[in-house]
Amino acid sequence: MTPDPAAAQPQTFAPSEEFAAQANATADLYRQAEEKGEEFWASQARDLLTWSTPFTEVLDWSNPPFAKWFQDGTLNAAYNAVDRHVAAGNGDRVALYFEGEPGDSAVYTYAQLKDEVSKAANAFESLGVTKGDRVAVYLPMIAEAVITMLACARIGAIHSVVFGGFSADALRSRIEDGEAKLVVTADGSYRRGKPTTLKPAVDAALEKGGESVQHVVVVQRNGEDVAFQDGRDVWWHEAVENASTEHTPAEQNAEDPLFILYTSGTTGKPKGILHTTGGYLTQAAFTHKNVFDLKPETDVYWCTADVGWVTGHTYITYAPLVNGATQVIYEGTPDSPHRGRFWEIVQKYGVSILYTSPTAIRTMMKWGEEIPGEWDLSSLRLLGTVGEAINPEAWTWFHRVIGGGRCPIVDTWWQTETGAMMISPLPGVTTAKPGSAQVPLPGIAVDVVDDAGNSLPNETDGFLVVRKPWPSMLRTIWGDDERFVNTYWGQFGDKYFAGDGAKRDKDGDVWILGRVDDVMNVSGHRLSTPEIESALVSHPSVAEAAVVGAKDETTGQAVFAFVILSDQATAEGRDATELAEEIRAHVGREISPIAKPKKVLIVPELPKTRSGKIMRRLLKDVAEDRPVGDVSTLADQTVMQQIVDSLGTK
Ligand code: WTA
Repeated sequence: MTPDPAAAQPQTFAPSEEFAAQANATADLYRQAEEKGEEFWASQARDLLTWSTPFTEVLDWSNPPFAKWFQDGTLNAAYNAVDRHVAAGNGDRVALYFEGEPGDSAVYTYAQLKDEVSKAANAFESLGVTKGDRVAVYLPMIAEAVITMLACARIGAIHSVVFGGFSADALRSRIEDGEAKLVVTADGSYRRGKPTTLKPAVDAALEKGGESVQHVVVVQRNGEDVAFQDGRDVWWHEAVENASTEHTPAEQNAEDPLFILYTSGTTGKPKGILHTTGGYLTQAAFTHKNVFDLKPETDVYWCTADVGWVTGHTYITYAPLVNGATQVIYEGTPDSPHRGRFWEIVQKYGVSILYTSPTAIRTMMKWGEEIPGEWDLSSLRLLGTVGEAINPEAWTWFHRVIGGGRCPIVDTWWQTETGAMMISPLPGVTTAKPGSAQVPLPGIAVDVVDDAGNSLPNETDGFLVVRKPWPSMLRTIWGDDERFVNTYWGQFGDKYFAGDGAKRDKDGDVWILGRVDDVMNVSGHRLSTPEIESALVSHPSVAEAAVVGAKDETTGQAVFAFVILSDQATAEGRDATELAEEIRAHVGREISPIAKPKKVLIVPELPKTRSGKIMRRLLKDVAEDRPVGDVSTLADQTVMQQIVDSLGTK
């Protein structure tokens, strides 16, 4: 048989005429952005947000890379997310459908959300929180998480959300770096039918540090017993329930900080990414409206992320509410109490726009299509993914099984640092190509360059950069301008680089090739190699450690740890499987269960160059089960053979 030349071409999916006819986005957006330059963003900022003082200046780029957008304008994020919808007569519209893991639920209209946010703002103020103070938020995916973030924004306090799965140590370092005055947490949550705890981690974090913290507000979620420290700890229901529903939102400058969110970097210490108000909200609202084709009166939107990640910040707390959407938030896991839970939720609320991760999709694929087949998914009209590249098989499965072949899919590339989507198809406009995030959004200037920063032709691998400032870009790393400049602008000077490799295909569509630095991407979560390595060597039995991210069918990448035991541990001669398991659990406790290595391999040596640098590339070959590459630059060229022999693999 002669091979079909078309088979090598990626399959494409043109938008249906029906979808295109009703789409928010049109091809004209690209033209407008091209023609108007920065003024394009100014008109979006005016159209999509309500300003207390209109801005007159669009972008100040006189001191790059420190951008200022709309800097003489004032507004309040919480007012934009909540109050203005009530003022416009939409107070009865549902803002949040909360679905708890055990099956409990709650509904908040915009009017109710306004009252809850105002009460929380009053309560936090009475605990001494004022404009510019930092508030650490360590909560499960419950409505109070959104309410807390908006209450901070209302006061002008800066929230720093720490993912509930993070350990006490991780929480402490984030509290200390941001010098948080208040911590908002819960007794716990539910995970796969069982109660989990959060408050004890806050207690442990504050026992050894976190001196800046004056109060801890505790939401009662699962009723587990918690210790209370007199004078410091207060129950949410006591502090908030009786507070007034009247609260005047603080007038914030467009460049006043909105939040800090920590993300893994190439060194061990997480970076506090700082986002400000006006530009961030503009790009958040613009992308949410056009990429998800949001119709606030009729759509039910659901983003399955946790507010502990940037996706939850931008596409749960801010953009949907600023756009007046009705959204679902869900506390639990996709398999609790059964593997059809996501689809049950879609059916129950009539979800029309679903934003999730490739790793979730691949997990569902493994579970089998009979499971979604049991539910009515006909309300869905648009699907989105984020966090990592989606392989074409998962894309087509999502399209066929979940989207019934009728829903456009938007594969959105962005980062904690970019604040909002940067590369994505526009539904109704772009012909989709599974596996490619495709085209920069209107007003965004991305490029693929070589290591000298020169733009590369199509079909050549290089680095993904952003050439021009964009409204929702990070403004700095909290407390460390120098690290901000070095990390993102050190490589190419005038272009932003945050670590992804990419290429453009013959049509100019962008394919993301994954991280090129020491950051791994496991189930769409960024993990830092050095951070996990330091957790490993903090175990008494580990002398040295090296970590690599190996390709994994479900999670994208999986953490493989290679460790050399301490002399004492070697002398003790413990069972290797048991010890490896103990080391894995140790990393889970030190950082988070997500960071737990899939495998801990005990090896006699690590491959090092003459200057002592560990050659992780060779370890990756072992982890991905392929022949080991070039070892000529190793100080001891027999090391890889020793490792392979010790593991009993090829
Ligand atoms: C990866 C998540 C391919 C990428 C919003 C990026 C993606 C990192 C995609 C940021 C995508 C995110 N296709 N890769 N659509 N979306 N990534 O900061 O490596 O948690 O640099 O932000 O995820 O992860 P972060």
